[in-house]
Amino acid sequence: MRVIEAVRWSPAGDAVRIIDQTLLPERYEERELRTLDELCDAIARLAVRGAPAIGVAGAIGLVVSLQPFAADPPAALRARLKEHADRIRATRPTAVNLPWAMSRMLARAACVDGDQRALLDALRREATEILEEDRAMCRRIGEFGLPLLPDGARVLTHCNAGALATGGIGTALAPIYLATESGRYIEVLVDETRPLLQGSRLTAWELSRAGVPVRVIADNMAASLMRAGRVDLCMVGADRIAANGDVANKIGTYGLAVLARHHGIPFYVAAPSSTFDAALEGGHQIEIEQRARDEIARGFGRVTVPDGVPVESPAFDVTPAELVTAIVSDRGVHRAPYDFSGLGAR
Ligand code: MRU
Repeated sequence: MRVIEAVRWSPAGDAVRIIDQTLLPERYEERELRTLDELCDAIARLAVRGAPAIGVAGAIGLVVSLQPFAADPPAALRARLKEHADRIRATRPTAVNLPWAMSRMLARAACVDGDQRALLDALRREATEILEEDRAMCRRIGEFGLPLLPDGARVLTHCNAGALATGGIGTALAPIYLATESGRYIEVLVDETRPLLQGSRLTAWELSRAGVPVRVIADNMAASLMRAGRVDLCMVGADRIAANGDVANKIGTYGLAVLARHHGIPFYVAAPSSTFDAALEGGHQIEIEQRARDEIARGFGRVTVPDGVPVESPAFDVTPAELVTAIVSDRGVHRAPYDFSGLGAR
């Protein structure tokens, strides 16, 4: 399997290296982000995207954005650290991985009482740990999810919860990669995932590149395919999971879960520890990011909604826990009644 590294340190260690996902599948281009503006812009435009990947990019980006200020007095550097972390945290509100990563970085800084060099070295180590832990968590999600995928399974997924969305082999796609690697035949159906087409542009790109059979469907086809018996199970990612098991994920996930329940099809969610938010009782407390009108009204570079007509553009929705068959994390397969202790922010 050819590994995609969606987010990592640049070889010189002075930038965040990302694959610019706005260009896929037409063009493969990597970019190096050095300044706070470059980082926040890349996260906001979804050049780097997916809950775990933005957490990792935020952590590495925080360190590199502080390099020009390395000679500032310690108090000024710490003030800037806080200011940069706050700005990065605010770029996208729904995925908890971003505030989770920023809290970890600030907590690490709070434990350092040395000079500026010691502070920046500690932050660099923390960001590297966040990246490496994410890789390891993806792998474990894959291993825990593997028994859910029998040979020949036809899996419906939504958006992109693969290698492009993480520092590793993905979350929802991790069991699919491992099953394929171990010789099982797994066939993936992916919703195109309007309006930004993460399913057709990104999931189809990375799976086909890895040799996993994948077929793209328009978002409105899932119901009839389920009715025709062409879907064995659904496997999706998550941006934030509340203590009661409610799951925020890409807009359209909830609809899929309703359809799966109606057709008696298992609906699985896969997510690393960093996506659990024990501070929230339920999904109603999750802030849903609203995206720009033009992502719908100027789809495909054309006028797709008449000028002056308002649109709704939530990036995510919340699937209630009762529609989720099980949640696969790096700690195991969780079923209701949920006990997520040990998962989430530390
Ligand atoms: O807006 P995006 O592309 O960042 O949304 C991504 C998703 O909804 C993913 O399913 C989720 O972040 C999980 S990624 C492992």
